[in-house]
Amino acid sequence: MKINTNDIRKMFLTFFKKKGHEIMASSSLIPENDSTLLFTNAGMNQFKDIFLGQNKNKYTRVATIQKCLRTGGKHNDLDNIGYSENHHTFFEMLGNFSFGDYFKKEAILYAWELLTSEKWFNLNQNRLWVTVYHKDQETYNIWINTIKLPKNKVVFIKDNKNSQFNSDNFWQMGDYGPCGPSTEIFYDTTNAYLNNSINYCTNTLKGQVEIWNIVFMEYNRTYDGQLIKLPIPSVDTGMGLERITRILQNKKSNYEIDIFEKIIKSIIQFNPNININEKKSIHIIADHIRSASFLISENILPSNEGRGYVLRRIIRRALRHAYTSGMNKLFFYKLVPTLIQAMEEESLLIKKREKIIQNILKQEEIQFNYTISRGIKLLKSKIQKMKGKILNGKTIFKLYDTFGFPIDLTADFCKEYNLKIDYEGFKKEMSLQKKQTRKSNMFKNNHELYIDIKHHSIFVGYNKYEIKSTIQQIFVNGISVKKLTVGESGIIILNQTPFYPESGGQIGDIGIILKDENVFEVKNTKKHGIGIGHYGILKSGEININQLITAKINIKNRILIQNNHSATHLLHSTLRNIFGENTVQKGSLVNDSYLRFDFVCYQKITIEIIQKIENIINYYILKNIPINTTIDTFNNAKQKGILALFHEKYNDIVRIVSINNYSVELCGGTHSSHTGNIGLFKIINEKSIGSGIRRIEAITGKNAVKFIQKKEIEIKNIINILNANENNVLDKIKILIEKNKILEKKIEYFTEIELINIKNQLIKKNQLINNINILIENVHNFNIKLLRTIIDKIKLNLNSSIIILTTVNKNKIYFIINISKTLNNNIQANKIAKKIIAHIGGKGGGNPSLSEGGGGEKIELLSSTLNNIKQWIIKKINQ
Ligand code: SER
Repeated sequence: MKINTNDIRKMFLTFFKKKGHEIMASSSLIPENDSTLLFTNAGMNQFKDIFLGQNKNKYTRVATIQKCLRTGGKHNDLDNIGYSENHHTFFEMLGNFSFGDYFKKEAILYAWELLTSEKWFNLNQNRLWVTVYHKDQETYNIWINTIKLPKNKVVFIKDNKNSQFNSDNFWQMGDYGPCGPSTEIFYDTTNAYLNNSINYCTNTLKGQVEIWNIVFMEYNRTYDGQLIKLPIPSVDTGMGLERITRILQNKKSNYEIDIFEKIIKSIIQFNPNININEKKSIHIIADHIRSASFLISENILPSNEGRGYVLRRIIRRALRHAYTSGMNKLFFYKLVPTLIQAMEEESLLIKKREKIIQNILKQEEIQFNYTISRGIKLLKSKIQKMKGKILNGKTIFKLYDTFGFPIDLTADFCKEYNLKIDYEGFKKEMSLQKKQTRKSNMFKNNHELYIDIKHHSIFVGYNKYEIKSTIQQIFVNGISVKKLTVGESGIIILNQTPFYPESGGQIGDIGIILKDENVFEVKNTKKHGIGIGHYGILKSGEININQLITAKINIKNRILIQNNHSATHLLHSTLRNIFGENTVQKGSLVNDSYLRFDFVCYQKITIEIIQKIENIINYYILKNIPINTTIDTFNNAKQKGILALFHEKYNDIVRIVSINNYSVELCGGTHSSHTGNIGLFKIINEKSIGSGIRRIEAITGKNAVKFIQKKEIEIKNIINILNANENNVLDKIKILIEKNKILEKKIEYFTEIELINIKNQLIKKNQLINNINILIENVHNFNIKLLRTIIDKIKLNLNSSIIILTTVNKNKIYFIINISKTLNNNIQANKIAKKIIAHIGGKGGGNPSLSEGGGGEKIELLSSTLNNIKQWIIKKINQ
């Protein structure tokens, strides 16, 4: 019987449950509180703090199926897709973990049993062989003596490039963080294993698939490159679900397993012209629809920076392969239902947001089609201007980068014109850009981020605002110090604190830390791994490490913040009620003066809807409902369908904030005790901040009252100025506008008459010399716009003419010159402009028949300059 992917997921979890492991949920694809990672790249990410000894887990044995994305940083498989049968951008990682519980021997025994036991995966053990880090004799001995693998099947792997710990068998999450030696289990899909003395050490051996990586987490690599021994030796294992499925389903490629079979069938169905031998493109599309959909399901939207940019590139890469393989209709978004069906239980998030995902993918597709045609236009114009026979790298890269234009399409296009492309130049531009991207991807890299926190801080500020506490550590400019002196800024770590550290959109608390007359003013509070940092300045006296102090938050400020936070929850559920369950939160900010809430919404929000939102929220405020917080396990909360932000990392124990049944959310923030405390809710701003994302800004309580009062005063002032009353003010404004329109029309009419008069006066001053009309005059009180209008009128009356008009406005000279085209061989307006500027100053320019300028200040020279020019012209036309 064929075993399907979902069975394999279940078997893996059942096996480890039987071995005493707690089954935990996959964390989000977006790592929380970890600025070293763009995306979750391994099952161990969510346990990083536990490996580092900065946090404790309730369980010492855990198993998960983790959604991973490897599209950047230390683990990047993007370029392998389409060329490798074993790699994916998005994949699921089966993992078991031990936090100071079992170590090398059990980890290896468990893996071996699951893979080879008849009750479980029942793989032919003769096909299995392993690699071991060359300095890890203990692991080698386990494979040889306990598992009894023949010596030729245990291969030591050395450090690469002579650099210590830079080895395929020394695993690390990123440039910094937990790491350690690993042992990898490989499966031989060929008959090579029949040869008892086969050398698995050679690179040329085909058909070897790495299926399981068992890492012994023993070190932390710090950002300055040091390896520090971890407090508890732990185990982190990872087995790619798609790879083990491929082996168990006896397929030649990951892309032939059941999940991909369905997706690929769907791709071919939508694109009957696609060449099914063109596997590269098909694999890319099949891989990328998974990563794109999972990313959007976690609220990442395509954009031009950060995670959104990675998403956009993935989508475009898939679309370009569709395009070059002959697809010319929208289709990518139509793959989503098949994906949901293929991923079975793991598609829950996508299913929930199916419509949104489809919408976003469709928009990207439409936009890409549009950029392709713009790209072609640019390419054509470049080709027209080209001198040589090779299109330069810069242009190819611009097409690629700005217009999402595939290089093979550029090459194809150039071929029709007998042109080649400068591929090397393109690669150069590309690597230049990669360097820049790498730089901008290194998120915050400042001292604060790496302060070496050694103590745990407990937050007690949900119901306590002032407590006694002990100073554990002090930092100045990222360096640990023993004391702070007056005027010095620093970060203080306490063992317990009422200060809420900035997170989940809520800003950090402010307040004071004091010991008698020694006062440290806290200006912000932030999380630092296990500690909470109080940022501020010492206002008086001296503060020392280990001192017992009083920590006191600014209660007024906190109350304003928590009212805004509770109002944010009411707003969130109201938006979901009005626009539907798919109204996904995209971001929020809660501070003492206002709240900001970004959400996915494809609808325009009218004033009526704004008022409806306000009315509903104010209704719940008036009802003065108690706001309750309870504690539960994450799994229970998830089962109850409680609203959670999926980019947040939730620990096993979660806090649930409920306002009756109207709003129930997982939230670590601080809240009012009753909705009535919010007082009043008023939206002050609503706008779109990107495709499909809208932003609402609102205020509460006294701020809302003040806002309304200010508006009232503004209206009163308007009424007073108009000498109106509340009932007729609008009519009065309408009448004023009407009157204004009539007046404007009258002004236009009279200006026209005036201009005709001026024109006639000017024409009278025209001189006819050699059948050429010469009119050179200064007009009083004009501006450049009027000069242009009048010159247009004059030239209609004067054929074959040279007209120069000047005016002085606010002590600056402006001029305009018009010369009939038939005279341009002899006399050019731009040359005359230069002459004028040379005498009177200012700037200007134009073409031989029309030029203008202004800004010159030598008014006293204007009349002589015009005279000279006139003489020069007369001379010229008499020649
Ligand atoms: N962290 C290791 C890996 O990703 C094992 O889980 O390969």
